Amino acid sequence: MFSRITGTGSYLPHKVLTNQDLERMVETSHDWIFSRTGISQRHIAAVDESTSDLALHASRRAIEAAGIDPQEIDLIIVGTTTPDRVFPSTACLLQHKLGIRSGGPAFDVQAVCSGFVYALSAADQFIRGGQSKCALVVGAETMSRIVDWTDRNTCVLFGDGAGAVILQASETPGVINTHLHADGSYQDLLAVDGGGCGTGRSGDPRIVMDGGAVFKFAVGVLDSIVEETLSVNGMQKSDIDWLVPHQANIRIIQATAKKLGLPMERVVLTVDRHGNTSAASIPLALDTAVREGKIKPGETLLMEGVGGGFTWGSALVRL
Ligand code: UT7
Repeated sequence: MFSRITGTGSYLPHKVLTNQDLERMVETSHDWIFSRTGISQRHIAAVDESTSDLALHASRRAIEAAGIDPQEIDLIIVGTTTPDRVFPSTACLLQHKLGIRSGGPAFDVQAVCSGFVYALSAADQFIRGGQSKCALVVGAETMSRIVDWTDRNTCVLFGDGAGAVILQASETPGVINTHLHADGSYQDLLAVDGGGCGTGRSGDPRIVMDGGAVFKFAVGVLDSIVEETLSVNGMQKSDIDWLVPHQANIRIIQATAKKLGLPMERVVLTVDRHGNTSAASIPLALDTAVREGKIKPGETLLMEGVGGGFTWGSALVRL
């Protein structure tokens, strides 16, 4: 038994924050942001919108695209680093908002920007193991709630949004395989300063990052995960039709595309419009490309991402 993506959906909050808006908030410029990151704008959740609300809209669209009854969903996994609350999980809140009464498992995965790849991998294992037939896998974030809006090093990078897929049991492989990694020794290079239940800090949790170090690490591990994915599957670079990368920085994405020998026309790019939406960025990019008619059924996609932790991973998927 394999798992296959049968529907995708996404959602972006209405408010758009442009680079020009940021010029009025911190000492920065559109030219600096765009040339260093490829970002022009990002979406920001309304004050009464939380991560589970964004997840709900994206999930409804994925459910509609898959043509299923929500009651068929027997597993919900949400990748998020900005849950509505410490508990219950965002997945439980989402299950309730969707009115799903199956009593199937619902849980969050915390792997920051690798969250969707981690969540997809977990759902794939549930389906291969026969414990689920129809999973809802979501990446959803309200990064604007943990950004330090006075820190130009980080506030220009992040945005809010959600993406979702329906993953169903199938006799032919959709998710071919996934590769996940983590190394907690890098915990201080990209972190949130507080907000959990640790000791020693009070006040609002805020992102802190050594951007240059994260950049170098990301390019290095993405290079090796491309090699790992191709060699484990006995595939050539030319077997990959599309790169659907985590959308953190156009220069990191270009480096991975170069490693794959893929022209940029074969890379799904949304970083310019969405910024870095952490766990939401890959399913948001996937849904955007599917709805724009770029990615077609039967094509082979490589999804990859790196996030705080550090965590990193890839998913090789035939749509
Ligand atoms: O999902 C994973 C999450 N994080 C990432 O992927 C981030 C990875 N890193 C990056 O994307 C890049 O390192 C950045 C975009 C954060 C920075 O780009 P860079 O090419 O590494 O920057 P740089 O070293 O060329 O420039 C840093 C300079 C500093 O000034 P000094 O010390 O050289 O005078 C910063 O103070 O740029 C300054 N700077 C800014 N200037 C204008 C930092 N942020 C800004 C800003 N506007 N927003």
